[in-house]
Amino acid sequence: MAAVYRLSPSILSADFSRLGEQIQKLEKVGTPWLHIDVMDGQFVPPVSFGDVVLKSIRPVTEMFLDVHLMVTEPDRFIDDYAKAGADMFTVHAEACTHLDRTLQHIHESGMKAGVALNPATGLQVLDYVLDKVDMVLIMTVNPGYGGQKYIPSMTAKIRDLRRKLDDAGYPDLPIEVDGGINSATIDTVLDAGASVIVAGSGVFKGDLEKNAQDLMGRIRAQEEK
Ligand code: DX5
Ligand code: ZN
Repeated sequence: MAAVYRLSPSILSADFSRLGEQIQKLEKVGTPWLHIDVMDGQFVPPVSFGDVVLKSIRPVTEMFLDVHLMVTEPDRFIDDYAKAGADMFTVHAEACTHLDRTLQHIHESGMKAGVALNPATGLQVLDYVLDKVDMVLIMTVNPGYGGQKYIPSMTAKIRDLRRKLDDAGYPDLPIEVDGGINSATIDTVLDAGASVIVAGSGVFKGDLEKNAQDLMGRIRAQEEK
């Protein structure tokens, strides 16, 4: 059983004119992590935001800042994001020419290192770097946009990864899932072995405090199983 169970709301779906206020509402209801989606218009079509936004979030919250880099060659950004206050720096395996070196660089900068996999990417890219990975992010939609539908074949992928990590001696290595997670899909991914749950539209659409509390309740129920 994975040790870390967390909700990590994605600010990609936030109202940016009230970002600080929305983050503080989430923190008040006990949301532990905040997911920050960085897009460069190259690895994925849209451009989102960068370390300038992170820098202004850091002083207003103590939440764990979980940064997801949807950019090519993310090494370019490691030092700036460490300085801006990121706690976890997650890179796509598909975007790194030298993944092993990138993971070392992330650790040297004082952040935790995550590896993200697109839906069509196999789990074998993790085989020789597991000792340098603090979290694996399974994309449950193709990255780039909020509000997409969960890809059902990802349930088997999460289950396969959980088994692989347990067999390799990493039973506590958390699996994060990202894309299409809401009150209708969360139990499926939790049952399959995910423990860090990203939700964008599932939190920010409608009443964000109520949505966050509902999803955290479902995560707690799984943790207590
Ligand atoms: C998608 C991003 C996600 C996105 C999820 O490329 O990585 O974090 O915000 O949004 P929802 O939860 O709405 O699918
Ligand atoms: Zn994300």
